[in-house]
Amino acid sequence: MVKNFNIIKALCRSALSNPSDAIVHQISRLRDSYEKEGYKKEAKSLTNLLSTSQTNAEMSPSRIEKSFVARGKEEITAKTVLPVDKETSTPLAEVFFNSELPLEIPLFDDNIQHGIKSIIHEWTQYDKLLEIDAMPASSCLIYGVPGTGKTHLAKWISKEIGIPVVLARLEGLMSSFLGTTSRNIGNLFAFANRYNCVLLLDEFDAIAKLRNDPNEVGEVKRVVNTLLQCLDSRREKGFTIGVTNHQGLLDPAIWRRFDIQMEIPVPSSEVMFSLLKNFLQPLVFKESELKFLVWCVEGASGADAQMMSNWIKRALVLDKNTNLVTIMRRFALLNSGRMDPIKRKIMLHSDEDFISALLADKNYSFKQKDLAPIFGMTASSLSKQISKLKESEKI
Ligand SMILES: Nc1ncnc2c1ncn2[C@@H]1O[C@H](COP(=O)(O)OP(=O)(O)OP(=O)(O)O)[C@@H](O)[C@H]1O
Ligand SMILES: [Mg+2]
Repeated sequence: MVKNFNIIKALCRSALSNPSDAIVHQISRLRDSYEKEGYKKEAKSLTNLLSTSQTNAEMSPSRIEKSFVARGKEEITAKTVLPVDKETSTPLAEVFFNSELPLEIPLFDDNIQHGIKSIIHEWTQYDKLLEIDAMPASSCLIYGVPGTGKTHLAKWISKEIGIPVVLARLEGLMSSFLGTTSRNIGNLFAFANRYNCVLLLDEFDAIAKLRNDPNEVGEVKRVVNTLLQCLDSRREKGFTIGVTNHQGLLDPAIWRRFDIQMEIPVPSSEVMFSLLKNFLQPLVFKESELKFLVWCVEGASGADAQMMSNWIKRALVLDKNTNLVTIMRRFALLNSGRMDPIKRKIMLHSDEDFISALLADKNYSFKQKDLAPIFGMTASSLSKQISKLKESEKI
């Protein structure tokens, strides 16, 4: 007789009153080990408990479906052991708890903002949807050019849903050993399915490359096939967010696995205005100054706007006599990759060209009196310069 078996059995019975895959797995392991060690009676007793619990689960129609999100899942804590790559011991994931996730949603146009809020509404109302057999969307692919706030958004969505994020770590997942990457992906999904969490696959293209890429052979196919199976298996287990800025590299079958596919564009001029205003805080700028800055960085990403704002703050603190035009010219000179090449050329040319380009841009409707202080001129001297320029163009 196993010592304290009555207590062990009572513990198992109580755990099985709200069974998760992990609980069933562990009790099955215990049963198997009793069986192996010759404790037949105890093993049979656990088998009975397991089969009663399964019958109960089958008799309760909503149970399996309700395990979709939190029901019966284990909670991740700071002590939860994360899965690792067996060869290198590198963790396959990193966990972010609520307090470590962004408080604010990134700034987007209203229609994107509404779209995002509707996903969250759906995800937090899954019980209601399940009652009428409407399976909520459980996966979302966020894609778009670099620096547009995709990772920030994915983390914020998880924060709103109110469960921790399991962020896949690519350096852990990808292995040069044949077959290991697939095994790691399988282990990562098994971990995410066991716990109540959002699985975040950032820089997703690295593991979801086109299967028919002629440069990659069998291993990529194997990895993508594993990923497809894992995404299918997760469908009814929890939320998954994929993020990529190389959407063209994704295998079409992977695309299809995501219920929601959301493109994040570079900020519109209205959004850029608000972004700069926020990023430049605590410094306060006039509306015309912010509009001027928006003109300069139009088409850039939110991350570029953040970088430029820090640049402006540093320049203004270090040199009290400088002005926005000088700062932006220096920024244009040293940040060619972040700016529209045509605007950059204009900015780096003469004041006259710069001012004329600003005044000619119908989308901004700049007024001479607003631009004059930005260029460190009086309204009348700016007006004279423009007239001179017009005269010379006539000649
Ligand atoms: N629309 C935005 N609103 C607020 N912050 C933004 C926005 N776009 C970018 N940022 C800021 O820019 C930085 C980079 O954002 P993030 O890492 O989320 O971009 P990403 O789209 O994931 O980039 P990548 O594709 O290169 O991974 C963050 O500090 C983020 O807060
Ligand atoms: Mg990112």
